[in-house]
Amino acid sequence: MNSKPIIVNHDTDEGLRQKEFIKKIKGINDIFEQKNNRKKKMHIATFGCQMNFHDSEKLKGVLEEMGYEETDTEIDADLVVYNTCAVRENAEQRVYGRIGHLKFLKRKNPNLMIALCGCMMQQDTVIEKLKQSYRHVDIVFGTHNIYKLAELLDTRLTTGQQIFDIWDSYKDIVEDLPTVRKYKFKSAVNIIFGCNNFCSYCIVPYVRGRERSRTSVDIIEEIRTLVSDGVVEIMLLGQNVNSYGKNLDNPLSFAKLLEEIEEVKGLERIRFMTSHPKDLSDELINVMAKSKKICHSLHIPFQSGSTRLLNDMNRMYTKESYLELVNKIKIAMPDIALTTDVIVGYPGETEDDFNDTMDIVSKVEYDSAFTFIYSKRTGTPAAIHKEQISEEIIKNRFNRLLKLVNDIANKKSLAHIGGTYKVLFEEENLQQENMLTGRLDNGHLVHVNASNKLVGKIVDVKIVDGKTFHLIGELNEG
Ligand code: SAH
Ligand code: SF4
Ligand code: F3S
Repeated sequence: MNSKPIIVNHDTDEGLRQKEFIKKIKGINDIFEQKNNRKKKMHIATFGCQMNFHDSEKLKGVLEEMGYEETDTEIDADLVVYNTCAVRENAEQRVYGRIGHLKFLKRKNPNLMIALCGCMMQQDTVIEKLKQSYRHVDIVFGTHNIYKLAELLDTRLTTGQQIFDIWDSYKDIVEDLPTVRKYKFKSAVNIIFGCNNFCSYCIVPYVRGRERSRTSVDIIEEIRTLVSDGVVEIMLLGQNVNSYGKNLDNPLSFAKLLEEIEEVKGLERIRFMTSHPKDLSDELINVMAKSKKICHSLHIPFQSGSTRLLNDMNRMYTKESYLELVNKIKIAMPDIALTTDVIVGYPGETEDDFNDTMDIVSKVEYDSAFTFIYSKRTGTPAAIHKEQISEEIIKNRFNRLLKLVNDIANKKSLAHIGGTYKVLFEEENLQQENMLTGRLDNGHLVHVNASNKLVGKIVDVKIVDGKTFHLIGELNEG
């Protein structure tokens, strides 16, 4: 169920300009609706991380303001938007496949409008390929100008030309456009955009630009507006939230920002991601440990256990310093749930390096872990490494890692059995009638037999069973 669009009300000039375009397209779409007895339909497919999913909520907000309604398939859509990810090659291949397929739909419906945006579009090689081989695409824009969608649609309609509008870096953070949330009771909130870290394998700094933080005033105002609209849980988003505030006129640490957010009345849960281990501060650990609202779950990607490879990756920590950090966190919050990202098959990875990775997983005991096979990204320093690892070796290591990760996740899951935890119910379970799915404070998923009236509420649940990826609970009666 979609909640109504919310508008954070403090206009910037750019926001006002965009609202004029929104109004203009709305006028065109209203005439379409009168003539055809239906609204125009939009389909947005999102690839990649939570940042992209949140960007898509902003795109949907603008499109709904313009009178589009959402459809969950391309087949009956008047407008298709693909919000793309560039982090690994297979994510890109999937997008090319789907764009190719749209050619057939466009042949049937020449009025179909196709827009591409997101991280893939920030790469010159992608733009060249689209210009040469995908001429049925109408609008292409990047990560720095998603707020311009209405203007770009207008330009496409008035000129009849294919539109490419890609910027090298951002200009404004436009604060005042509508957003549509997937859930009524929880929302993502951007706190910092971009990344300055340039890990040797990673494309993100090239496609998302340099770090820039929103002011705490803007962030708190958005959170207050969300809470007054029914939100009880927020997820603060950034590629590296621990860098928050460094480039503001009045610098402010991430921990201080959290303390300010904690004061927002009516807000019950605060989550954030992602934390880079290199600058996860003692101040942050202290603030988390004493907070009543910050959830005891931390996503701290370690990527590799080998100090030699970490150095090559430009991660700025060692195996030992990472393990020390984890110990400090566990002492301050014994109930913390830790999650991580790991890469297998980074160029030059030896069996010894890989064993260091396995060693970190065994020692830290993550509640869950995202495991990735290294993907060569053109333009990154790691891509020109001579010692790329063979597919066979990578597969073997990947399977060993996955087994270890899953065995530990299973053990961590079962350890909840018998305990009672606060659960925020998120949605009805589509596979089983009368079952709701919710999340513990520490991020674990739980299925509970309960009335759908409890969706959006935080309730005590007793855990009675556990599988690797979810728990089974019962309402704590009385
Ligand atoms: N900013 C976050 C990660 C964003 S990308 C952080 O630094 O923690 C999400 C994950 O994708 C990374 O943590 C990494 O594990 C993985 N990743 C990034 N580039 C990759 C590549 N070239 N090949 C495989 N995995 C990659
Ligand atoms: Fe990529 Fe590293 Fe930045 Fe994360 S911190 S987005 S892995 S460059
Ligand atoms: Fe992908 Fe862009 Fe996120 S590359 S992982 S969608 S920042």
